Amino acid sequence: EQINKGKYEHYMQKEIHEQPESLTTTMRGRLIRGGSCKSKSVLLGGIKDHLKTIRRSRRIVFIGCGTSYNAALAARPILEELSGIPVSVEIASDLLDRQGPIYREDTAIFVSQSGETADTLQALEYALENGALCVGITNTVGSAIARHTHCGVHINAGCEIGVASTKAYTSQIVVMAMLALAIGDDTLSSQARREAIIDGLFDLPSKVKDVLKLDQEMKNLAQLLIAEQSLLVFGRGYNYATALEGALKVKEVALMHSEGILAGEMKHGPLALVDETLPIVVVATRDACFSKQQSVIQQLHARKGRLIVMCTKGDAASVCVGGSCRVIEVPQVEDCLQPVINIVPLQLLAYHLTVLRGYNVDQPRNLAKSVTTQ
Ligand code: AGP
Repeated sequence: EQINKGKYEHYMQKEIHEQPESLTTTMRGRLIRGGSCKSKSVLLGGIKDHLKTIRRSRRIVFIGCGTSYNAALAARPILEELSGIPVSVEIASDLLDRQGPIYREDTAIFVSQSGETADTLQALEYALENGALCVGITNTVGSAIARHTHCGVHINAGCEIGVASTKAYTSQIVVMAMLALAIGDDTLSSQARREAIIDGLFDLPSKVKDVLKLDQEMKNLAQLLIAEQSLLVFGRGYNYATALEGALKVKEVALMHSEGILAGEMKHGPLALVDETLPIVVVATRDACFSKQQSVIQQLHARKGRLIVMCTKGDAASVCVGGSCRVIEVPQVEDCLQPVINIVPLQLLAYHLTVLRGYNVDQPRNLAKSVTTQ
């Protein structure tokens, strides 16, 4: 049934729309609601025997490519916050090019939908040689990465066929958030925060269902952008990853140049590109970075930027002060889960842009689902 397109025209479209279900499957049996005197918690069977070692690590290093790298970037802040351990995120090929240091006191976490990506697999061999504890986060039971790591968590997102990764991305973020909750489980001071995130996880599939209602709005936006040469996406904090991943989707399937930009770097170069013609998406949903994003929007307005602002429902008036802009309103969730919501409109935008531009959605030119050569 999973490899049938059902009522959808393309696998990418189907996989975007099945995210409420794939996320539910990812979390199934792993969130414990807690009884009257027991607090809410997370149970990840695949790593439970290694949690003590992970907590004692000197560093957590995430390693992946493409979308899997972006997912790790989205999860890094909550890992840092709940574990108190320094967290770095490495592109597998870059780690190998540099032969970057990996220590036996490190926990190296390999993120890969297919579990077969050559660069990630080679980085795993390198980390094993260096004595790190190696953890796999994959969507493929029995894959090379699942087999060669010491322990791991399957994301259980179901088979992903479209070359553009969509539902695996959101499930990867959720698994890494659950990992952060499991690692931080022994810290009393963050219990309220953890419980709020667990409540947020329970609600997440229904919020994703809500955001999918933007489908027609994203199709209209795609119509407007159909002939553009380029699209910039600005994000920061939890949503820097959203900017990178949104831009990756647009470039890989719609074959349109697109760049994800850390908003904090705007003045250090990208601002020179801004004029009244270049479309720019700014992710400015409510979190600790919101006021900084408001100021970015004002500066872009001052340069007559052509803005499309993604904001929290009800915030349209407060994000578009001082200029005109198109707004994408999304439901608010816990800050660390917001990237799961925010990527959905951008996945829809990339999908519709591709169809309208007449390109192959599920099999973009020059790309393979699983990159097994270096
Ligand atoms: C994403 O849409 C890509 N097609 C690509 O970046 C992919 O995420 C990357 O090749 C890594 O694949 P993996 O998750 O199977 O390791």
